[in-house]
Amino acid sequence: MHNALVLLVQLIAVGGNDIMSSIFSKKSVHAQNLILELDPLADKLSKKGRKIVRLNRGDPPRFFPTPKYIIDAYVKALRSGATYYTKSQGVSELVDAVIGRYSRLYKMKLREEDIITTAGVSEALLFTNSALINSGDRAVIFAPYYPQYIPRLMIEGGSPLIGNMVMKNDWDTDFDGLSRKLRMMNGNRKTVKYIITTNPHNPTGKVVERKALKELVNLANDNGILLISDEIYDEIVYNGKKFTSIGEVSKGVPHMIFNGSSKNLDSTGFRIGFMIIPENDRISEGLKKKFSQYALVRLSLNTPSEYAVAEAMNNTKEHMKAIRSMTNAIEKRVNFAVDLLRENPYITVTRPSGAFYILPKLDMKSFNFKSSRDFVVSALMETGVQMTGGYSFGAPSNFRIAALPPEETLEYAINRVNSFCLKHAKK
Ligand SMILES: Cc1ncc(COP(=O)(O)O)c(C=O)c1O
Repeated sequence: MHNALVLLVQLIAVGGNDIMSSIFSKKSVHAQNLILELDPLADKLSKKGRKIVRLNRGDPPRFFPTPKYIIDAYVKALRSGATYYTKSQGVSELVDAVIGRYSRLYKMKLREEDIITTAGVSEALLFTNSALINSGDRAVIFAPYYPQYIPRLMIEGGSPLIGNMVMKNDWDTDFDGLSRKLRMMNGNRKTVKYIITTNPHNPTGKVVERKALKELVNLANDNGILLISDEIYDEIVYNGKKFTSIGEVSKGVPHMIFNGSSKNLDSTGFRIGFMIIPENDRISEGLKKKFSQYALVRLSLNTPSEYAVAEAMNNTKEHMKAIRSMTNAIEKRVNFAVDLLRENPYITVTRPSGAFYILPKLDMKSFNFKSSRDFVVSALMETGVQMTGGYSFGAPSNFRIAALPPEETLEYAINRVNSFCLKHAKK
């Protein structure tokens, strides 16, 4: 029977409401995006004529137009008829460009089969969790975390084993605490399928030091757990910090690097990402084969995007100009926002050195807000500034700002948030 007809018959049989509870899988409750949770409220206020400043989403092209040479490459691909399906693992031009990039930036020697291209890091997360996670499995995720790590894992029936980054230590990772947690798992250690780290870090802006990365590699290796490093902001580093890729410090240990065009090439809407599996031990070789199969299942990426990103990565001269200019502007904007936030006596702020997020901590005792969610909802309604509550990142007393807009917008928004805090502080 045709699907729609089956649905209709079921609807008649069980009634409209029952079908709502029977049609969806149990795991589908985990499909959510907390960064966008307040969008409907912000849209409603905006429709009523309120001025809304959106500081919730890290979408660079909204503030830094995608460079012309990249747009030109996209248009050129379209005009040359690149509208067909491509090789599922990625066109060779793109794969070669990724090989070139990693050789240039990190002196890594990759081969074609080490790279699987994806529709953004988002699809790399989907492939990973679908391929590795059985119901009851765990994955080590460091809090504060990029929120999308959680639904991808939980949809597959997994759950996070939380490691902690400590704000008062400039967001250093608490490796001892994590080692203890892993030791306590005893015989269940095999159910921990991967450790994922984000560097430069969203939402704190931390750039992880080489020494800490080595510690992480050792911890993963000692426990026999696959290490994944999401390095999607690896060229957006400033305030004097230097970035180290996990690929530079984890020779001989199975690991994967996730990256893509969204942030460094200022092209979130192109939806190009890549998974890199540099080693050739048994696990790494198995992963390459498995993810190639996943790529085949979804046929192809966006074809003009593949060619445009390949060309953009190869044009190092234009790229260096563009990334320097964007990173310099981001550095100024982030530092400006941090200084202004530090005028607020009810919050603590660490200064980021990568990506473009700031994660201030609220002195919750000074307010009657029930939670960081209560704080961001009230702030949106009163000030028109949309931020993301720390509950979304596993940092319940914090809130996140994406400091991408120009300084005058940040000044307007942060002044309003600071006044809002003064007004609501207990007298
Ligand atoms: C740490 C991190 N990983 C992945 C993504 C999503 O990347 P993509 O656009 O490649 O799917 C983001 C987006 O903000 C991010 O912050």
